[in-house]
Amino acid sequence: MKKYIYLFFLLSLCPLLAWAADDNPIAKQLFNVTSGDLKLSFMVGTDGRLYQLAFGDVSKEVTVPVKMPSREWEFLPPYGNGVLTEPALQATHVDGNTSTELLYTNHKTEQLGDGITQTVISLKDPAYPFSVDIYIKCYESTSMMEIWNTITHNEKGKVILYRYASASPVLKAKNYRLTQFIGNYKREATLAEEELTTGIKVLDSKLGIRANQMRIPSFLLSLNGEADENKGEVLAGSLKWAGSFQLAFEVDWNNNLRVLAGINPVGSQYHLERGDTFITPAILYAYSKQGKGDISRKFHRWARAYGIRDAEKDRPVLLNNWEATHCTFDEERLKGLFDGARQIGAELFLLDDGWFGNGSYSRDDDKHGLGDWEVSTKKLPRGLSYIAKEALKRKVGFGIWLEPEMVNPQSELYNKHPEWIITQQKREPILGRHQEILDLTRPEVQQYEWEVIDKTLRPNPDISYVKWDCNRYVTQPGSTYLQPDKQSHLLIDYNWALYRLMDRFAKGFPDVMAMLCAGGSGRVDYGSMQYFHSFWPSDNTDPLGRIKIQWGFSHFFPASTISAHVTRMGKRHLKMAIDVALSGSFGIDLALDKATPEEREQLAAAVKLYKESIRPLVMQGDLYRLVSPYEQPVASLSYVSEDKERAVVYIYQTEDGNVPAILLNGLDANKRYRITEVNLPKGQGLPGRGSALRMAPSRFAAHGKLFTGAELMTTGIANPLSNQFESAVILLTVEN
Ligand code: DGJ
Repeated sequence: MKKYIYLFFLLSLCPLLAWAADDNPIAKQLFNVTSGDLKLSFMVGTDGRLYQLAFGDVSKEVTVPVKMPSREWEFLPPYGNGVLTEPALQATHVDGNTSTELLYTNHKTEQLGDGITQTVISLKDPAYPFSVDIYIKCYESTSMMEIWNTITHNEKGKVILYRYASASPVLKAKNYRLTQFIGNYKREATLAEEELTTGIKVLDSKLGIRANQMRIPSFLLSLNGEADENKGEVLAGSLKWAGSFQLAFEVDWNNNLRVLAGINPVGSQYHLERGDTFITPAILYAYSKQGKGDISRKFHRWARAYGIRDAEKDRPVLLNNWEATHCTFDEERLKGLFDGARQIGAELFLLDDGWFGNGSYSRDDDKHGLGDWEVSTKKLPRGLSYIAKEALKRKVGFGIWLEPEMVNPQSELYNKHPEWIITQQKREPILGRHQEILDLTRPEVQQYEWEVIDKTLRPNPDISYVKWDCNRYVTQPGSTYLQPDKQSHLLIDYNWALYRLMDRFAKGFPDVMAMLCAGGSGRVDYGSMQYFHSFWPSDNTDPLGRIKIQWGFSHFFPASTISAHVTRMGKRHLKMAIDVALSGSFGIDLALDKATPEEREQLAAAVKLYKESIRPLVMQGDLYRLVSPYEQPVASLSYVSEDKERAVVYIYQTEDGNVPAILLNGLDANKRYRITEVNLPKGQGLPGRGSALRMAPSRFAAHGKLFTGAELMTTGIANPLSNQFESAVILLTVEN
């Protein structure tokens, strides 16, 4: 069999390259879409279909077959006319025909901005006025690719869409190892890796909203063997969708892997009216031949450049009151906490749940008041403006908690508008955390939720921060607003309406910073994160649990977005709680007014250290995961500044046992770094061990000494720690 081999040139410079197909008997056209290291190669067959030839390494030769590829290589395989694998698109046309055929019509590429190009490939059904446009956005500097589709038709009636994957590329490797990030309340983003075998593996969520609670819509795929932090071929994906999602991995009978990602089709058929356009959410891809660490750094750089709000701004050091007070506080208690915040150097006080609701609907517990966003006259008689000013008087900023999407049945709002909730008719309503979800597909609810935000923030310009919470998921996806044939649109339309609301919030209040939260971390997706500065990864703030949770999220989200607060959860030693929080967007959530003077001193020292030396590295540094808590009794990670002049290293003992040397990464081999262990509080014992082990001076032999980057990356830092709950933070500074 004669093979045509085409070499690709100029790939890093040229996002789109077509090459001659004249002499090929089966290809009408061949073209590439490239983004830095990542390339998608296409062939338009003489049958008119769009086939994918390769997805991955930009420098790899692509072989164009002489025989027409099998349908398993169709880029967006539609259901019902010859496709045997899981379809990417399934529609029933107005005449009842359940099949779709998609033929290539054209493609075009445009420059959207510096280093960003967008290719649109148009496909059309030859028998119906039904078409699909595939959008591929390339971010050259980070080698990231973003793919989504639009579906539209001009048939005389409604086309029903049953499946509408955002993308469905095919991979060809010897084997595939999938890493998913399993969740659930207080144990979010737990890594689980497995080898894929023939058949379909589905990772999904059917929760509708707060849909990422059991699993985030992101994955890693190691190709051709195991990948580690520094080695191995990896493709990673992250779906920009806060709603129910499906990631399906189908290894076919020829050991090809198709990865379908998109909105979960379960219960979500969409009746598309003539002339309307259905837009799928986008999926982000990163590719690397240098392991999982490189993948994470690509995601982080992309996020800082395009994916999150105000990446260049430092996230403030917060004092949050949830763990300290829950819903029980008054002005005096808050002022005491403001004083504490000021004393330790916190920059902002975040007033959590409980500040609203009056009379019998006072928000004194989680059964009452959600929906009644009037300030509590019992707890805050002088209003929000007064209490915010009291914080400001102490040079502490003021932020507030909101949960605009929810209502307690015990509320005035519910009494007035019981029809506003998401529920199934003729069924007993199922509550979650004693609350119901407002139906955001309803225009009055859209307006109401905007007003919750607007009426809280507009008259109170001293509020400079919002924590946007969401404490339940959907169990009965029904709407009293949507027509019977549109009931299955609910969870899709809800999430697009939610993004519009978030967008309105971000645009309406550009100076208000925002934390995304959903009962811990039930909503962590890049569709939402573009409107937020950080997110709350978990209500589990026991440092031992948090190490793995933050580790999991770090695969896709930069440290600046991962809120990490010092609390008393788990009753660990304060040093360990501080050391773990110092590796994220640092904050404190404990009753400072009840802390001992020594504890306040310890916290103040940590805040100072963070602001002066660590925060710039957390905000903008490159992450290197050094020792995995999944493999060793130790977790270790570091952030290195872009110029490689400074770095911070964290070492946490998650269990007893010693890792003798921590090998660093990402340093300049030729530079000399001074090693300084920091956050060394005096006289700290280990909890439950009865010892009064003094943590100062440093037990690290390297402390105070100079080493070259090469030494630190090959011999490493000798690690004296060996007992569970011990931890260390080490700064590296270049000296010439
Ligand atoms: C769940 C969040 O995860 C907590 O941090 C806190 O804000 C509570 N909700 C308040 O109800």
